[in-house]
Amino acid sequence: MPSAPTDTLDRPVKDLRISVTDRCNFRCTYCMPKEIFNSDYRYLQRAALLTFEEIERVARSFARHGVTKLRLTGGEPLLRHGIEELVARLAAIPEIDDLALTTNGALLGRMATDLAAAGLHRVTVSLDSLDDSVFMGMNDVAFPVQNVLDGIGAAADAGLGPIKINMVVKRGVNETSIIDMARHFKGTSQTLRFIEYMDVGTTNGWVMDDVVSAKAIVETLDQEFGIEPIAPTYRGEVAKRWRYKDGSGEFGVIGSVTQPFCGNCTRARLSAEGALYTCLFATSGTDLRSILRQNPHDEELDQTINTIWTNRTDRYSETRTSLTGSVTKVEMSHIGG
Ligand code: GTP
Ligand code: 5AD
Ligand code: SF4
Ligand code: SF4
Repeated sequence: MPSAPTDTLDRPVKDLRISVTDRCNFRCTYCMPKEIFNSDYRYLQRAALLTFEEIERVARSFARHGVTKLRLTGGEPLLRHGIEELVARLAAIPEIDDLALTTNGALLGRMATDLAAAGLHRVTVSLDSLDDSVFMGMNDVAFPVQNVLDGIGAAADAGLGPIKINMVVKRGVNETSIIDMARHFKGTSQTLRFIEYMDVGTTNGWVMDDVVSAKAIVETLDQEFGIEPIAPTYRGEVAKRWRYKDGSGEFGVIGSVTQPFCGNCTRARLSAEGALYTCLFATSGTDLRSILRQNPHDEELDQTINTIWTNRTDRYSETRTSLTGSVTKVEMSHIGG
């Protein structure tokens, strides 16, 4: 039984984020811009993807190393055929006490009940505006807001909560939706989180001027509603929590760019083809798929994971200024959020 390793900055590994496909039915301009992710783009072929059995082996190995939380991501994870079977396999791992999935919500109306039945605990749904013209411009496939809201409703009915809603804020694009979004989710059981637009990958043309800072988001909401900070729910929580002074609930702000949180980063990321990344901004991953396919038993897998984590030094968001522009980073659609 391997022990729970810590990295060079004394951080344990608690959270494994598993990308199950690099495909998506949206083309969000900040994530999969159409000019790059078009019919010429080379997505992963089926044989390259880890099978559900292989994903389960990796998840079980991480559980032996201290992971208690799993998140399924993509691309859009609900596009992976048979995803409910994977959910059931992961839900059966005894160490896992939190099994979540991040989705754009498009297929939730159809799938929420089956996902809950398979053992999924909760979903986080991305939604960037309540205004169709803004939202359709951002998802770039003319997908209507109401269908996402219906998906969120279906997830709530299926018991896939507490549900979180992720809104990426991009200057000049959807800042004007901040207050509408807050008002809509205020007083509901769904927690809205505002996310600073990040320089993930290299295709989205990120520039610092496009970032609306966490501070500016907080000021906008304070002026409109009156808010106060509240304590984190757990150590290393990515979102800073705030509550409305009128008692109508809370929201979160994820300041990945202006308020980095690498010091508490306990997250590992597995791509759909089985590469392990120890940072969202990594330039390369470690191929676990070959190890899985060459070894029927898990000793080498355990040893590799232990070595990678023990040697981990990542703190990209804290050093961003010195690196930006000089390297090719992995795309968000390849390793999830
Ligand atoms: P909970 O488990 O519900 O607390 O979710 P979470 O806080 O882990 O957040 P979620 O997985 O929904 O991630 C929200 C967003 O935060 C992501 O889409 C990213 O934009 C950002 N984020 C999450 N993890 C990291 C990270 O390790 N580094 C950076 N820089 N950003 C992250
Ligand atoms: N910056 C911040 N968040 C992003 N996401 C995707 N790309 C970016 C980016 N460049 C978010 C999505 C989703 C989660 C998976 O990551 O909106 O909520
Ligand atoms: Fe798809 Fe999510 Fe990326 Fe949008 S942010 S393109 S929904 S993976
Ligand atoms: Fe973790 Fe890398 Fe994000 Fe820092 S930048 S919080 S090390 S994933």
